[in-house]
Amino acid sequence: MPDIAQETDFDAVLFALRMERSRDDLFGMLDRLYGRHPDHGRFVTALGATLKGAWAERPADLKRLDLARDLEPDWFLRPRMAGYVFYLDRFNGDLAGVLDKLDWLESLGVTYVHFMPCLKPRPGDSDGGYSVMDYCSVNPAFGTIETFEAVARALRERGISLCVDFVLNHTAKEHAWAQQAAKGVAAYQDYYLMFDDDTLPKAYEATLIEVFPDNAPGSFTHYPALGKWVWTTFNEHQWDLNWANPWVFLEMVEVMLFLANKGVDVVRLDAVAFMWKRMGTRCQSEPEVHMILQALRAASRIAAPSVIHLAEAIVAPAEMVPYLGAGIHAGKEGNLAYHNSLMVQFWGALATRETRLMTYVLHSHFPPVLANATYATYIRCHDDVGWAVTDEDARAVGLTGPLHRRYLADFYEGVFPGSFARGRLFQYNPETGDKRNSGTFASMAGLERALERNDAAAAETAVHRILLGHALIASFGGIPLIYMGDEIALINDYGYAADPDRAHDSRWLHRPNMDWTRAATAEAGEAPEGRVLAGVRRILARRAATPELHGGFPTVIADTGQNGLFAFVRKAPTGALVCVFNFTDFWATLRHEWVLSQGATSFHDALSDAPVGLDEGRLLLPPYARLWLR
Ligand code: GLC
Repeated sequence: MPDIAQETDFDAVLFALRMERSRDDLFGMLDRLYGRHPDHGRFVTALGATLKGAWAERPADLKRLDLARDLEPDWFLRPRMAGYVFYLDRFNGDLAGVLDKLDWLESLGVTYVHFMPCLKPRPGDSDGGYSVMDYCSVNPAFGTIETFEAVARALRERGISLCVDFVLNHTAKEHAWAQQAAKGVAAYQDYYLMFDDDTLPKAYEATLIEVFPDNAPGSFTHYPALGKWVWTTFNEHQWDLNWANPWVFLEMVEVMLFLANKGVDVVRLDAVAFMWKRMGTRCQSEPEVHMILQALRAASRIAAPSVIHLAEAIVAPAEMVPYLGAGIHAGKEGNLAYHNSLMVQFWGALATRETRLMTYVLHSHFPPVLANATYATYIRCHDDVGWAVTDEDARAVGLTGPLHRRYLADFYEGVFPGSFARGRLFQYNPETGDKRNSGTFASMAGLERALERNDAAAAETAVHRILLGHALIASFGGIPLIYMGDEIALINDYGYAADPDRAHDSRWLHRPNMDWTRAATAEAGEAPEGRVLAGVRRILARRAATPELHGGFPTVIADTGQNGLFAFVRKAPTGALVCVFNFTDFWATLRHEWVLSQGATSFHDALSDAPVGLDEGRLLLPPYARLWLR
């Protein structure tokens, strides 16, 4: 450690201070994880050198950003934050294509973009790019790492942060490490979880849950030529990394800081729940996962401090909150985590026109406020919707878990009588009865069916359902993420079924190409896509202008006593914002006194920026109304 008082090398001082601040958070966790490993000493020394090296290579403009964010540590909590998530090829061809669409992004009100997997994938089926063979180069179809850096810089100049996937539970079996392991190199075999026979795999299987039961049953793959069983939680070509090996941690820190130094602001830590294995468990969300995540976070804080971490843990509500830092990890783990439960509850309430379960779940499992962290809120993403409602939660509001889940899956597959939705099944597991669904926001919300039938009134209702969703995620707390195409209400893309690499994976149904022609008509017109586009822009603009929506302010779930309404209060120091959503196709009313008792002081809606309709002491809420009352 340099003597800070004597030091004239400002850069070295900064590094030393950052190291001092986060040393215990990092090395404390690593001692617990790897303290007994024979290589521990060498590993710690090597990690120190890696951090120092990464800092030395960090470009000056990023170091400047580091300082700016030191001064504004709540930058990602601000209401101006709004994200847009897309596949580079499906958006505008490739990386360079993004540069032509910066105005589009800005016009939406977007300040954060997530390039869906863009690092070099294995050839052929790559699970949408989540099977990475080289973390240090970009998918050649999208451009080079130099272009990547240039695009990141261009985004930064417009005040847009960049999020990139960091697939850290597994690599493609074509990755150089896996290739070495396949050749029999022991050190690399120890990067993965390989077994000589199936005794242990079978013992683990007894308690594991299959992720892709349809096309990748089981969690292990037998390679007779290698004489090994390899742990493959997801697909056969995705080999799980052995995070109990400290050298894996080191390699992945190198990758993470490499990406950070190329201009990545938000690292999306993919499928984190699965990173640690323990016999006799589901091997999900084991305590060591949180230790690893805290250590990774500390590594970023030391060597790339403007970077934040987004955890992807699609798990039960109570299991998800710790990814934002709980107990000893409070304030030190994820800065963002997907609010899967909000998404599931949105769809559940839309189908049933009842909000009891939604109110109960969001009230009972989620703290009103988090330390140095917030949610990534979303309605649709590139993945399927899994009906993550526990039996206990269902029971608490008088529902039966398995039946309710099956109802939702059937409803969104579009086969339940009276369903407005169009979707497909994704991965039916007959053993557990678990069914998931694919489908775009617009198709699931009823637009596809309405257009098919030329039913203008049903299309109008679908538009309102869509805007209800956007208004919900824009106000709940956290960064709302808009999934490409949802801003112009793109419907399902059935074309994937003709592509042999994709036909087995119905998630491609909701990964359509961006339709720029439709975007142009949307800009101009009153058709549903035009209404949705104008609505999304308006919602994000109003969000940016509503300081109460800062992610650091509590979100307190409120009970209106009415089964079709969902409400919460954003408790800003300047006063409350009472957000109310009508999940039904009927008019509803709310008593004045209720609204006032929640802290609202006027009957002015901050979302429409207009007074709300009043009738004899009651607020009038049209079907699918969304109100933000000051
Ligand atoms: C994450 C991704 C999903 C992918 C899986 C395996 O859950 O969101 O698309 O299939 O990880 O990498």
